[in-house]
Amino acid sequence: MAERKLLVLFGSQTGTAQDTAERIGREAKRRHLQCTVEALDSYDVANLINELLVVFVCATTGQGDPPDNMKLFWRFLFRKNLPSGALCRLDYAVLGLGDSSYPKFNFIAKKLHKRVLQLGGNPLLPVALGDDQHDLGPDAVIDPWLVALWDKILVLYPLPPGLEIISPDVRLPPKYTLHYVAEDSPQPRGVLLQPTAPGAAPSEFCPFAAPVVSNQRLTAQSHFQDVRLIDFAGWDGVAGDVVMVQPQNCPEDVQQFCQLLCLDPDRHFLLKPTEPALPALLPQPCSIRHLVTHYLDISCVPRRSFFQLLSCFSTSELEREKLQEFSSAQGQEELYSYCNRPRRTTLEVMWDFPHTTCAIPPEYLLDLIPRIRPRAFSIASSMLAHPDRIQILMAVVQYKTWLSKPRRGLCSTWLASLNPEQGDVRVPLWVKKGGLKFPPDPDIPVIMIGPGTGVAPFRAAIQERVAQGWRGNCLFFGCRQKSKDFYCQAEWEELVAKGFLTLFTAFSRDQEEKVYVQHRILENRRLVWELLSSRNAHVYLAGNAKQMPVAVAEALQSVLQLEGGLSPSEAEEYLAALERSQRFQSETWS
Ligand code: 2AM
Repeated sequence: MAERKLLVLFGSQTGTAQDTAERIGREAKRRHLQCTVEALDSYDVANLINELLVVFVCATTGQGDPPDNMKLFWRFLFRKNLPSGALCRLDYAVLGLGDSSYPKFNFIAKKLHKRVLQLGGNPLLPVALGDDQHDLGPDAVIDPWLVALWDKILVLYPLPPGLEIISPDVRLPPKYTLHYVAEDSPQPRGVLLQPTAPGAAPSEFCPFAAPVVSNQRLTAQSHFQDVRLIDFAGWDGVAGDVVMVQPQNCPEDVQQFCQLLCLDPDRHFLLKPTEPALPALLPQPCSIRHLVTHYLDISCVPRRSFFQLLSCFSTSELEREKLQEFSSAQGQEELYSYCNRPRRTTLEVMWDFPHTTCAIPPEYLLDLIPRIRPRAFSIASSMLAHPDRIQILMAVVQYKTWLSKPRRGLCSTWLASLNPEQGDVRVPLWVKKGGLKFPPDPDIPVIMIGPGTGVAPFRAAIQERVAQGWRGNCLFFGCRQKSKDFYCQAEWEELVAKGFLTLFTAFSRDQEEKVYVQHRILENRRLVWELLSSRNAHVYLAGNAKQMPVAVAEALQSVLQLEGGLSPSEAEEYLAALERSQRFQSETWS
């Protein structure tokens, strides 16, 4: 009989695809399949021609882009020289995760499905299109799709005689075993810390501990939002690039967590993977405090898989029943109301299940709680203007739900709390190529539309261009009130006075009627049209992904109609053509 082997490969940006891939891995093990779950870029793609059964789990990010941990794979897969029958032995299925409020919904999963088919692969099922916008989250699509997937797989690879599917109540072995050691025990060979070549550029596997040089509030104290300009010592990056920051939990949360689990934060341990190829970004030996502070994302809203695994540890019947309900398909609506809607954190959930929490064996912590994700910030400064510096413009995330404690963003709250005057304050970070590319030609003007912190990449671009003496910089900036959140006002005004910048501001709340950047674009349509049609201008848009990008695109289309005399469909096509030729680029976030 053929080996019963399944490979699950994922491309994940926010962790949902990884969580789903790991869920498939657990379900495979319950069906006695030998299963490996790996990020696409950790997998040696040359082996794909030898695989017989693969499930791909892929998110789509940004403007229809692949997640960072599948970018190499993506490039490889679309090489022209791959023979069309290369994957003819492969049975495969693609599970996509996307957000239907973005234009290129599940673009990567759809494209991957097509490409593997083209290379001779045999699809077991149509591609699954998980949708964040669905009331019950992507599981609404994933659950029935997985039922169909297992049916197909068990026909191809039936259960060995005498074996049954292992019930979800039975605890599977952990990914790592944990061994307490004396603090000063020597570093063993085969450390789990990812190997990095000495002198390699900072990366996720080896971030640069950047000193914080300054941390300044830019909005008025009376303004509802705290926006910071944070200045790090750094040496890399150009306008359009992105700084990745690895945040950490605050000491109070770490202490609470350790108390709840009856863990001594000062104890040290070694981890040993129970499966091959399971690296973790942890030093060896590692203290419990380090693990909880830097690794376990205890402030994220827990996913369904968390409840499922937690239920296996429960010593209280009442708690177990509730946890099982939350992990069942029928319990998803209730779970959504309990967790997702009020944005309840993992730590808070653990408080609600104290009998279960104190029974969690520490070696399961890495199965139970995802790793703290790095956060991306557009670089807001230019090395040409500020040598050896990287600045970011960051809104501190804080909002209320019906829970009494306000919700706070982990990374922005932590960064805002850092005070460089209190000593050597450092932040682990690295720089990543960004999506925005500015023209290298001084004669090409740029039109930049960046309300709120959307202006960050444009501050970098303007500084970079001005440092080289380039003019033709046109910025549309929007904020609520001139006196409260018009950040960088003095900088812009100086550049306007020197003739380097044309600035249009939309202060939405300084008058009765809301005024937004799209209104200013329409008012200044003659200039916008002239820059586009006669001067080959590039247009950039950055900021909040909600309604703003659509409204700005509509305003640009109106400009094309009113000034260029185009029909609505011609205007739409003109803008689409600008996008295809990268003369219209956007970077939006939610
Ligand atoms: P508001 O909060 O007063 O509605 C930066 O956040 C600026 O973007 C604010 O002035 C905000 O205005 C504005 N904004 C909110 N929604 C917008 C939209 N749909 N289009 C453009 N700007 C918007």
